[in-house]
Amino acid sequence: MLEFNPDIILGIGGGCILDNTKIARVLYENNEEELSASLKNISVRNLDPKSKLVLIPTTCGTGSEASTVAVVKDVNKPNKIPLVSDAFVPDVVILDPTLLLTLSPYTTAYTAIDALTHAIESYCSRLTNIFSESCAKIAAQEIVRNLERSIEKQDNLIFKEKLQIAAFNAGVAQNATSVGAVHAIAHALGAHLGVPHGIANSLVLSSVLNFNAKFSTKVEEFIKIIGFSDMSQFSEWLLKIRKLADLPSGWNFYCAPGKLFDLEKIAQTALEDICMKTNSKNLTLEDVVTILKDTKT
Ligand SMILES: [Fe+2]
Repeated sequence: MLEFNPDIILGIGGGCILDNTKIARVLYENNEEELSASLKNISVRNLDPKSKLVLIPTTCGTGSEASTVAVVKDVNKPNKIPLVSDAFVPDVVILDPTLLLTLSPYTTAYTAIDALTHAIESYCSRLTNIFSESCAKIAAQEIVRNLERSIEKQDNLIFKEKLQIAAFNAGVAQNATSVGAVHAIAHALGAHLGVPHGIANSLVLSSVLNFNAKFSTKVEEFIKIIGFSDMSQFSEWLLKIRKLADLPSGWNFYCAPGKLFDLEKIAQTALEDICMKTNSKNLTLEDVVTILKDTKT
């Protein structure tokens, strides 16, 4: 990019691609070749940027196109680091549902569950507010209405469009409030074992919500808003979606046979994740280890 000198930068892909594009654009604007130089102060220092950033998502999940966050992996540590900066806000977002038509039921399911998790965790976040709540509600309602039929009728453009707009709205909600323990644990499972983000969320979502529901009425309130009578009905629906899309039944699926892993280390990484700070309840190491054990197989 530094050699080519583009005036428009397009990010087309899933969340990882969009996040990388955001970071590359900041480095390009600041004439830097390595992220390490920018880690402490991420901004576009040039007030008259050379380039416009255009983001085009090809999944229905991450909401990266709607957020000020870009997640990177520190190669020297088992952590994924969410970088936050207004410099990551795109100039243009294009939501084109035809790009989702080739998305498999598997990827449709786990990316949409990621978006649903953004909505739920945003609504229950310590930073929740009237603006974010309205985005979270409409996003989650549309995902619950359209996910199953979108998996069953893969080529239906209307269902895909609804999921895509819901993912954007969930991204806006998430951006206003951050998320919570589901994401913190998912980031840790991704960093230690390579569990893909949306799949990690789908595995721990019910377990974390059951923990949080003991201490906050917001969980039950939101579950009812999106059409379920209680947490157990929501958990049954989530399990049905996971089976329909053939998602793994536990994070153990990603552990190489015989490979040793330390549950307490994974839990400790989750507790240090910035998303844990906005969870409605302060989870202990023991709580996170229990959630990890519950969701292993
Ligand atoms: Fe996410």
